[in-house]
Amino acid sequence: MGVRFKGWGIGLPDRIVTNDELSLTLDTSDEWITERTGIRERRVGGTAMSLGVIAGQRAIEDANMTLADIDFLILATTTPDRLCPATAPMIASAMGLTCPAMDVNAACSGFMYAVRTAYGLLETGNKRILVIGSEHLSRWVDWSDRNMAVLLGDGAGAAVLEYDPDGSDLISFSLGADGSAADLLTCEHGGFFEMNGKEVFRRAVRVVVDSAEQALASAGITADDLSLMIPHQANIRIIQAAAQRLGIDMDRAVITLDRYGNTSSSSIPLAFYDARENGRIKAGEYALMTGFGAGMTWASAIVRWS
Ligand code: COA
Repeated sequence: MGVRFKGWGIGLPDRIVTNDELSLTLDTSDEWITERTGIRERRVGGTAMSLGVIAGQRAIEDANMTLADIDFLILATTTPDRLCPATAPMIASAMGLTCPAMDVNAACSGFMYAVRTAYGLLETGNKRILVIGSEHLSRWVDWSDRNMAVLLGDGAGAAVLEYDPDGSDLISFSLGADGSAADLLTCEHGGFFEMNGKEVFRRAVRVVVDSAEQALASAGITADDLSLMIPHQANIRIIQAAAQRLGIDMDRAVITLDRYGNTSSSSIPLAFYDARENGRIKAGEYALMTGFGAGMTWASAIVRWS
């Protein structure tokens, strides 16, 4: 069996917050943030629901489908609008969908976890699934904490996945989780995001490299066969370190964190969309999608666009 990516959409708040603007209220600078992270600005605003609705509607339009075509909605989010109910049913309702809808929380690996879940559902009877990554991270940021405030941004990205008995865009997966590292990146009830940045950095490079190598091996290809790396957008230095260890030159990596910061579950679909808009997605070519995040969780997939 196979699964095809049929359409993509994104939703971003209009409000742009630059590093210089953050430097007005925080003891930081554009120079420090750019040098240590690669981030120049981020979007702030909306909600997980409102941004997710925009991305989801656009993905269905992009797939030339109607609401009636979608038979499941999976929302990847670390920042649901409420603890209960899940945000996915509210997005579905706002869009006019009446299919099953649920949230998946695997932090910044969330979109890839949702894609993996969709793959399993398509394997067992569903026909077309809307997968959305949507985050309202700014709500859970202490804007007086320079450690976190400079890193995160809001946004959403979505894709429609369709069952295809004759071939697949998704070739292989490698997912994992290690809850013994849970305390490295947390947001307690009623609290804000807190992180041991150095340790997250160290582990992130390792899990990205390991899971990417496993996904490449099960696809039966090597890093030389990849035309694109679509990584989670947390820090340019993590992407550089992982790409270097994998033998992927940075020309093949898609970078959007300079404009959006770290948007957690939304960053991989936002990066895919950017690559497509820039003519970098080409039929028959292989790409690596790879993410890591709080949990810790990680997820890599090899795709070959049809
Ligand atoms: N502006 C200016 N200075 C800052 C700062 C900021 N926004 N944040 C921290 N600093 C300071 C620190 O206080 C420290 O000062 P000191 O040397 O006087 O103690 C100095 O800069 C260096 O801090 P350090 O934490 O060593 O920097 P770093 O090079 O490790 O970069 C991160 C910090 C957070 C950018 C980096 O560790 C990182 O990206 N980690 C991974 C985070 C991540 O990917 N999270 C998401 C996972 S999905």
